[in-house]
Amino acid sequence: MTQRTLSILVLHGPNLNLLGQREPGIYGVLSLNEINRLLEKQAEDLAVNIDVVQSNHEGVLVDKIHSAWGEHQGILINPGAYTHTSIALRDAIAGVNIPTVEVHLSNVYRREEFRHHSFIAPVAVGQISGFGAQSYILGLQALVYHLRN
Ligand code: DQA
Repeated sequence: MTQRTLSILVLHGPNLNLLGQREPGIYGVLSLNEINRLLEKQAEDLAVNIDVVQSNHEGVLVDKIHSAWGEHQGILINPGAYTHTSIALRDAIAGVNIPTVEVHLSNVYRREEFRHHSFIAPVAVGQISGFGAQSYILGLQALVYHLRN
């Protein structure tokens, strides 16, 4: 049986363009480009396509989620600080109804209290938090597993 190749939208939210130089004790030393290369490699191993976008702007992320409809079968998102503030991102994900996995480099539950609440988690399939760059790899694996089962 031939299986349709899955296409996954990978979204990186605000300040993640600074990875590598931004608070490396919390977020690690890998740059966003290096993380994206690891994701490309994992996507190849899983035989899926990924389309990667980073934006510091909430509206751009909302537009990207809307345009995923009919284009991508899953969304992998690190919403950055918008995790804790953005009803717009949450509504966009609920609106397109595309299975979404939320990832965080740091374990947000071990950090400041304002990071303990996610507006995204209730509309996500699940969340992976605290494994550094590996959170993205685990998140992609989990999303593809979810879509294929
Ligand atoms: C983050 C955690 C958020 O609280 C923070 O605002 C970020 C990064 C993470 O990947 O650990 O920008 O999403």
